[in-house]
Amino acid sequence: MSKVALLYAPKGGSVEVAAKRVEKLYDGAQLDVIEISNFDVQNLMAYDHFILGCSTVGAESWEDADSDNEWDRFFHDIEERNISLKGKKVAIFGLGNQILYPEHFVDAMQILKKESEKAGAKVIGYWPTEGYDFTDSEAVVDDKFVGLALDEDNEDELSDQRISEWLKIVKPELE
Ligand SMILES: Cc1cc2nc3c(=O)[nH]c(=O)nc-3n(C[C@H](O)[C@H](O)[C@H](O)COP(=O)(O)O)c2cc1C
Repeated sequence: MSKVALLYAPKGGSVEVAAKRVEKLYDGAQLDVIEISNFDVQNLMAYDHFILGCSTVGAESWEDADSDNEWDRFFHDIEERNISLKGKKVAIFGLGNQILYPEHFVDAMQILKKESEKAGAKVIGYWPTEGYDFTDSEAVVDDKFVGLALDEDNEDELSDQRISEWLKIVKPELE
């Protein structure tokens, strides 16, 4: 059986809430849930596949040299240490707010996708855009989100169901 890690950042907010929801709904299978601020990227090699969870809090600061974004650091470390994710699958979930940021809804999922692919991973778990109310998103490719979009600010009551449906697609691919 594959070893799967759910890596998320930041801690203490809605991403963490969603990570715990995913853990609960992952249904008995082994899933290591880890917040990445103290995670050594060398440990990535211990896993076959990954679920990555992020939020969008202003894409313009993400790739800034002074960025304190944990994901930014994470992918810089991967590049610096020449770590390859070839043969590994990555499924992404992203937190956003479609009412306050309808033109940038869950944009950051696209950054996680690009960086994961740059490291050699295959991104799986695309998700339909139906049922959301937004005007634009960097995270939409061919009419689908590149991962699961969650809006804990406005639709927390829908999260469990969205996660369950998404895991039906994603889990068989990670096993
Ligand atoms: C400064 C700031 C900027 C944000 N920008 C976006 C955005 O561009 N797109 C989006 O979908 N949500 C945006 N959000 C909403 C957050 O992604 C959302 O509240 C999320 O649940 C936060 O999760 P976290 O607390 O775990 O980081 C923003 C929130 C803040 C505070």
